[in-house]
Amino acid sequence: MCADKNKNIVLIGFMGVGKGRTARVLAEKTGMYALDCDDLIESFSNNKIKRIFRDEGEQAFRSLERKTAVWLEKNVTGSIISTGGGFINVPNIRDIGTIVYLHSDFDSIIKGIENHPNAEKKIRKRPLLQNLEAARKLFESRLPIYRDLAEIEIYVAERSLNRVAEEIVERLAR
Ligand code: S3P
Repeated sequence: MCADKNKNIVLIGFMGVGKGRTARVLAEKTGMYALDCDDLIESFSNNKIKRIFRDEGEQAFRSLERKTAVWLEKNVTGSIISTGGGFINVPNIRDIGTIVYLHSDFDSIIKGIENHPNAEKKIRKRPLLQNLEAARKLFESRLPIYRDLAEIEIYVAERSLNRVAEEIVERLAR
């Protein structure tokens, strides 16, 4: 699918946009493995993201993200990597793989989360989604960074995971 089969695909985008779910559909379509940065951080620290934020603070979590980014760059090839919404600030993100930005507008993202059968849990596990106005500001401040990093930008609002994954495959093959 990719010109270089050993290159990772790195999915970036705001919280709740569907990076992890897209990564799994993409894995199914391509035969590549999908890894999730937040899952790696939770297994590495044997702790939940929510608890890391609560007990050690956001900076401790960001430092775990940087450590994970270094580990990924050194050890992982040919995989699909879904990231947390703030992973874009790790210094080596461009060295991990081809960056694909999943874009949606803030209101559609929130609507998507609120309409999910597990909405309450999805919101509860995300410390930076507790205050919607603060989350909107965070989205606005990150948007130019997502766009600047993106080698490919895919619009995902109201589109099926399958269609999104197909478009990623198509655009990577170009
Ligand atoms: C964060 C996004 C979360 C998780 C953490 C911080 C962020 O991941 O990494 O709560 O800073 O945007 P998702 O993007 O998967 O929700």
